[in-house]
Amino acid sequence: MFESITQRRYLLPFKAARLPQQFTDVLVIGGGVAGLRAAIAAAQDGAEVLLLTKDTIDQSNTWYAQGGIAAVLQPLDSVESHEQDTEVAGAGLCDHKAVEIVIREGPQRVLELLQWGAHFDRQAGNAYDLAFTREGGHSFARIVHAYGDATGKELAQTLIRTVRACDTVRIQEKSFVLDLVTDNGRCLGALALVNNQLHLIWAKTTILASGGAGQLYRESTNPEIATADGHAMAYRAGATLQDMEMVQFHPTTLYVAGASRALVTEAVRGEGAYLVDRTGYRFMKDYHEMAELAPRDVVSRAIVEQIRKTHFTHVFLDVRHLPTAEFRERFPQLAQLVDQFEIDISKDLIPIHPAAHYMIGGVDADEMGRSSLNGLYVVGEASCSGLHGANRLGSNSLLEGLAFGARAGKHAAETARNGKIDFPLNLEHRVPPSTRTELDITDVKSSLRSIMWRNVGIERTGDRLSETREIIAFWSRYVMDKVFLPDMPTNPARPISPQAGWELQNMLTVSFLITTAAHARTESRGAHYRLDYPQRDDDHWRLHLLWRRATETPTPEPLS
Ligand code: FUM
Repeated sequence: MFESITQRRYLLPFKAARLPQQFTDVLVIGGGVAGLRAAIAAAQDGAEVLLLTKDTIDQSNTWYAQGGIAAVLQPLDSVESHEQDTEVAGAGLCDHKAVEIVIREGPQRVLELLQWGAHFDRQAGNAYDLAFTREGGHSFARIVHAYGDATGKELAQTLIRTVRACDTVRIQEKSFVLDLVTDNGRCLGALALVNNQLHLIWAKTTILASGGAGQLYRESTNPEIATADGHAMAYRAGATLQDMEMVQFHPTTLYVAGASRALVTEAVRGEGAYLVDRTGYRFMKDYHEMAELAPRDVVSRAIVEQIRKTHFTHVFLDVRHLPTAEFRERFPQLAQLVDQFEIDISKDLIPIHPAAHYMIGGVDADEMGRSSLNGLYVVGEASCSGLHGANRLGSNSLLEGLAFGARAGKHAAETARNGKIDFPLNLEHRVPPSTRTELDITDVKSSLRSIMWRNVGIERTGDRLSETREIIAFWSRYVMDKVFLPDMPTNPARPISPQAGWELQNMLTVSFLITTAAHARTESRGAHYRLDYPQRDDDHWRLHLLWRRATETPTPEPLS
């Protein structure tokens, strides 16, 4: 039923000898926190690095992150406490080794950002004079932040400045990577569209840091580029993917008709905001003893339930009891956002609704960021390092990007230095032409995002998941066997770019993996909630679901 997805190796036919070719020691795909940190580490280790970004370098989930970076930097906090919070949220699926690495190495990675000129918010009274806040699931105020709610931007700018200062790093923006190139079971670089021309980039080692998949869902906090490209290309190249059913939904995005779903940081609740329904009732106490600061999956589901109970479209954040001036100073981006919609936070409630936020599942990575495919490393949201288990704790992902980015970059540089590789300069691949009817790419994309939101979202059932699989299979038959060429003539009445075609192929591939794994996991755990199997079932399901190309169902693997 899914051969069009499971058998596809490359999105394009190519003959390497006819393409412009570039060579590098380390290829980094993606310019978010993990990719930037990996590029810095590889360059510091002496490697020539080529860093490709899909859009401009300021377009990444990192750039838009608001809340902060969680790290143990205060004497009364402890790594054991942060590890425990991470593993409680991870609901039995965390890899303890990955948790230890990130939580123990994370503080050093944050402190080095200060040396590189990052301006985190300050407050006197601790060793580093840093201001800390709390977020859901954390038992200590350990989140550092910058310019109130602009942490991601400050972090990204610091890393971009640092990477630009590295002599051996070349950055090529607006370079869409279509596929990882492999030969004899080894990753040897990638095929990418650079300046509207297909290039073959040969690399001794490749670090995939391509970010998330939020655009698979109609409601999402992610920028438009987050179309799951990295997950899909790694699957096509034969790397193992893990726990793809685990998608995190953020409880609070601004819900205003006609506006995109802007994130309203969880730190707002950390600073004392309430969640209320249309009647003004503060409902979170009915769902969890931590009320507004319960883990994200609990809060998202509670909101969905309260929306159902109150027959309304959304709920509200109430900050009217907080001092307005201080609040505006603490959350300047949010203050600007609500002003745009004439919401006066001293008098009005802020309308909010959950949205897809973070892809927890991803390409399986070991403690050095190595994937199962020789020569391929994977870091950040494209990876599944085991840190997050079944549910990510807020502000742990920037930390993960820093910790594993640094490790993978260094290791990839060493591997590149020590390996002798003969690139197969005559590599080629054919894709037979399709004779099937063309479906409208824009319509399929929008319908896919809707059905993923309705049926593979916060609440799932076996029937709906099964139906969604069939619908994805139907669309895939018509979209997956198409070849979208860079110089393809477009219909002037309905212009679509070849990139939109490749993105849709990636989105269908990853939607299939998520939906099928969600159907297979007949229990509820962490971010994965099945209305028809509402209990966590440790006897049968304390295991990972692994995906490899050419299989239509994932393989269970008990935890080691
Ligand atoms: O709510 C937030 O600011 C999000 C933080 C995160 O996803 O880590």
